[in-house]
Amino acid sequence: MVHGPARPYDPGGAVTYSFASIIQDAEKARWRIEDVISCIHDIDFSRDFLPDALAKADALEFLDPVARQRVNHIRAHSYVQLFALVERFILPFAMTQAGAALHESAEELLALMQFGEEEAKHIALFERFAQAFEFGFGTPCEFIGPAAEIVGSVMTEDPLGVALATLHIEWMTQQHYLHSVRGDPDIDPRYKSLLRHHWIEEAQHARLDVLLIERLAGRESAHGCRRATDAYIRIFDQLAALLDQQVELDLDAFTRAHGSLTDAERDRWRAVQRPAYRDAFVLAGVNHPRFRAVQQRCFPGCSSKIEAASARWAAG
Ligand SMILES: [Fe+2]
Ligand SMILES: [Fe+2]
Repeated sequence: MVHGPARPYDPGGAVTYSFASIIQDAEKARWRIEDVISCIHDIDFSRDFLPDALAKADALEFLDPVARQRVNHIRAHSYVQLFALVERFILPFAMTQAGAALHESAEELLALMQFGEEEAKHIALFERFAQAFEFGFGTPCEFIGPAAEIVGSVMTEDPLGVALATLHIEWMTQQHYLHSVRGDPDIDPRYKSLLRHHWIEEAQHARLDVLLIERLAGRESAHGCRRATDAYIRIFDQLAALLDQQVELDLDAFTRAHGSLTDAERDRWRAVQRPAYRDAFVLAGVNHPRFRAVQQRCFPGCSSKIEAASARWAAG
């Protein structure tokens, strides 16, 4: 039985944990993929999956309730596919860092190997969800890609910048679950359980990533920290552009599944859904107080770059 993150944590403030404590807590929080698979196969297409705070289907006022639920399901599909995409660069990043730890710290090595194994499990789980979803939804929902090209582009960036992007994603995951998913009584409990299991293990990842960032940033010059901040911003510039493409793919999926829309309705969809994607996946991370606290502590002098990027992303 999985209850929640194994212990409170405060990655924004003074670090009070270690690689050894993360290993212990990760073992307590761990679940098996078989424990969650049944949730996926019994998913109830008569209910919403994703909280409307994230899906923003109700803001498409020209759609009737049945059509809005179609939008909710399309958004729930892209939601987990987006995690599967970013985990495809987080995983090799963690393995590269594990390789670097091989001759330095057995505890760090083990913590990073656990991290990588969990991300591999999440990717497998989300792929199984996508298969079950397509069967239940009835028509394909396309997702941005090709994944290998996007991942390849991120992996050419500065490793400390990738670490900062990873921290953003981990805090964003906490924000979504705690503020939108956990307290929503209306969404399908099986989809909610899928997100709950993911959230539990991501809590350990946020702590581990803080330790990694402290180590990597501690070795960098001021110039190196600025370079890493620029890399982080490029990663999310790329993601923001991809999210705009996803809005078009969602429109296509809706048209296939439910019927055509007028040009005015398509424009209204874009006006609602583009900021909804950015709020969920870009602004929820960059503006998270815990992310900002680590960024300010480990990257002194770089906050104005982050502020400017956040304002640009908010403007669309
Ligand atoms: Fe994950
Ligand atoms: Fe993670």
